[in-house]
Amino acid sequence: MGLIFDVLGQPSVDPERCTRCGQCVAICPDEVLSIDGDVPKAGPGLMFGCIACGHCVSMCPTGAIQIEGRGMRADDAVELGPREARANADQLQALLLARRSIRRFTDQEVDRATVDRIIEMITTAPMGIPPHEVGLVVFHGREKVREFSRESCRSFGRAARFFNPVVLTLMRPFIGKTNHAIMRDFVKPLMAKLAEASEAGRDLFTYDAPVAILFHGSALGDPSDAHIAATYGMLAAESLGLGNCLLGTTAGLNHDKAFRQRHGIPRENKIGLCLILGHPAVRFRRGVRRRLASVTFAE
Ligand SMILES: Cc1cc2nc3c(=O)[nH]c(=O)nc-3n(C[C@H](O)[C@H](O)[C@H](O)COP(=O)(O)O)c2cc1C
Repeated sequence: MGLIFDVLGQPSVDPERCTRCGQCVAICPDEVLSIDGDVPKAGPGLMFGCIACGHCVSMCPTGAIQIEGRGMRADDAVELGPREARANADQLQALLLARRSIRRFTDQEVDRATVDRIIEMITTAPMGIPPHEVGLVVFHGREKVREFSRESCRSFGRAARFFNPVVLTLMRPFIGKTNHAIMRDFVKPLMAKLAEASEAGRDLFTYDAPVAILFHGSALGDPSDAHIAATYGMLAAESLGLGNCLLGTTAGLNHDKAFRQRHGIPRENKIGLCLILGHPAVRFRRGVRRRLASVTFAE
């Protein structure tokens, strides 16, 4: 649905609870709501109409407004805990600094309640336009992840063989010099290596993790949505003391129709990152300082 607006959110106001304060009208990004003496009413808006962002629901002091449609239900308003209970900047920065990719896991499985909690946290990720266009395929349990890893590595092996020097040379005018070099020097050798290791019984793709979550997003969402959702999942796992690592290699599965079919990933969806997680077998003692490629303050 995302970028399609033939179905809109339907805001409705309980006249008994509404105090006519107008805060929902003031916050609406698309100016869908207007107030004219009586309770707020929905109109066509400035651009699209109600996309069910839910800002009016979050703003209303008396819980008088609700939205149905575009993935939102009437009872989706959630009470927030006290402000002091939220992670403050120091706590968040400490979590961010301590987070490192973990690729070594203990034998312990991750229980279903913890996986569900991480998924719940992922649902809070913002998206370009609601509702979420991101889907997950969850491989829960080592055996399931191992099978996912083996089938992915077989797929990588096929792709590595397909991208022989002749094919890569033919592709070069279409993909450009930099992408050609990345394919030749990074993607292809990496896929070949992952496949070879898998055949030899080593999992260099999902590192024998007990949980793998594959993120995919439809063309109706922003291309970044799935990546943002995966980042939320990574931080959620971190906050629960679970080791985690994002995997970008999964982009190589996009052309594997059989894989998509087997896991119910719609044809028009793009497979993004995979998040692996589990109980860490290692504990890092210090963080490292990093620098961005550039930071410029515009004049
Ligand atoms: C978009 C993205 C894709 C990544 N893909 C892989 C991957 O396929 N395999 C892997 O082992 N690590 C992967 N990583 C983990 C990075 O290698 C890791 O984040 C980086 O080396 C920095 O280390 P740190 O996460 O411990 O700070 C990926 C990370 C990101 C953000």
